[in-house]
Amino acid sequence: MFLKSVAQAVSILPFLWPSISAQSTTACNNSPSLCDRAYNNITHLGAHDSAFVRNSTNDFSTSGNQFYNSTVQLDAGVRLLTVQVHQANSSTGATEWHLCHTSCDLFDAGKLSDWLTTVKAWLDANTNDVVTILIVNSNNAAASDLGGQFSTSGIDKYGYVPPSSTSVPTTWPTLQTLISNNTRLMTFVASITPSTAYPYLMDEFTFIFESQFTNTSPSNFSCQPNRPSSIANQPTAALNSGRMFLMNHFLDSEEAFGILVPDVDAVNVTNAQTGTGSLGGQMSTCTTLYGKEPNFVLVDFFNVGPAIASVDAANGVTDATGRETVSAQVPQQSTNSNTGLRNSGSIFGVVVAVVVAVWFGA
Ligand SMILES: *[C@@H]1O[C@H](CO)[C@@H](O)[C@H](O)[C@H]1NC(C)=O
Ligand SMILES: *[C@@H]1O[C@H](CO)[C@@H](O)[C@H](O)[C@H]1NC(C)=O
Ligand SMILES: *[C@@H]1O[C@H](CO)[C@@H](O)[C@H](O)[C@H]1NC(C)=O
Ligand SMILES: *[C@@H]1O[C@H](CO)[C@@H](O)[C@H](O)[C@H]1NC(C)=O
Ligand SMILES: *[C@@H]1O[C@H](CO)[C@@H](O)[C@H](O)[C@H]1NC(C)=O
Ligand SMILES: *[C@@H]1O[C@H](CO)[C@@H](O)[C@H](O)[C@H]1NC(C)=O
Ligand SMILES: *[C@@H]1O[C@H](CO)[C@@H](O)[C@H](O)[C@H]1NC(C)=O
Repeated sequence: MFLKSVAQAVSILPFLWPSISAQSTTACNNSPSLCDRAYNNITHLGAHDSAFVRNSTNDFSTSGNQFYNSTVQLDAGVRLLTVQVHQANSSTGATEWHLCHTSCDLFDAGKLSDWLTTVKAWLDANTNDVVTILIVNSNNAAASDLGGQFSTSGIDKYGYVPPSSTSVPTTWPTLQTLISNNTRLMTFVASITPSTAYPYLMDEFTFIFESQFTNTSPSNFSCQPNRPSSIANQPTAALNSGRMFLMNHFLDSEEAFGILVPDVDAVNVTNAQTGTGSLGGQMSTCTTLYGKEPNFVLVDFFNVGPAIASVDAANGVTDATGRETVSAQVPQQSTNSNTGLRNSGSIFGVVVAVVVAVWFGA
């Protein structure tokens, strides 16, 4: 009898085991260890200018900041996507809100609503992940303009609403709380007048401070607060304000006419874990200054480095799961022998576009 029940108990163990095991290894943002961490006690990897992808469809435009699109970024572990939103005119003259790099003449990645639809599809398919979007509001769109785009895409249903639109909360929810409540999208806009009709559109500088974003030398990366101006160069005031810290870490190089383009030649150094001008190096310097890891780090060409390595180290994540592997190499920029011509063609296009924009007083 006794032996039989032991045998029975042992025999059902293998059937219990998978469910116990599945429970304890359910990952939030790729790791079970992040589920109970507050949203502001995690370092989120950000893809700067997420939608401005340089690839064969645009002859590897020098205005592109990433090699892979937003879906691939999210699949690979990126959890902050930044974009610029500009006013554009449709062929019928109607106002449209597009993702454009500096100007829609230079690089137009299409409608904000279309891009949001792709991010929503990703959230639909990845139910245990919290994603942050940061929108640079280049033409001062109203909350209703941006909110209309969110509604069109349907992504607004995931929007987290802060307790107050004008002050920093003392505590942010944990990832698990956001996931359980299905409010898995954090949206910040630089800048926006809050609206009770679109309460998930959070004004960036109410909740976040940033370091300098224009850097052309590896020695220029700084941890000092730069925006909002009220706390510029005042790290203690920035920390005491309770705002989260966004560390900018992308390098530009200066082309003819003073035009800045992402410094792709240096990116393997810029996104590395150690060395002068490296991502890991700046994170370590900033962690010393603020006594804690940055909340967000923003990089160009996220796959190189790879940048996620420094972020995993900051989060103490050694068990990342559920990520798609993306090559850490700079992609071959052309499959034919015209590489040089194609690249100089793109630079020429950039110069012409900017000169035209200046000419018309844009
Ligand atoms: C942040 O997370 C770490 C690791 O789980 C934990 O030790 C620490 O207490 C947390 N800090 C805050 C302020 O919640
Ligand atoms: C190529 O780049 C364009 C423009 O940024 C983008 O819309 C498209 O999704 C990219 N293609 C792929 C396969 O990522
Ligand atoms: C994003 O890139 C992937 C891989 O190249 C591709 O399969 C997918 O269609 C792209 N998505 C968009 C919206 O371009
Ligand atoms: C859109 O049209 C308005 C009114 O004609 C004009 O002022 C604005 O410059 C146009 N914007 C773009 C991006 O073409
Ligand atoms: C859950 O979301 C609803 C709205 O979607 C909100 O009213 C509620 O406060 C949220 N709860 C938590 C714990 O965030
Ligand atoms: C950026 O770095 C260069 C080269 O080290 C230096 O000459 C310049 O003063 C730095 N600029 C700033 C704003 O720190
Ligand atoms: C970056 O790439 C250059 C050129 O391929 C190489 O010489 C250098 O060792 C690389 N540096 C790192 C940190 O990978």
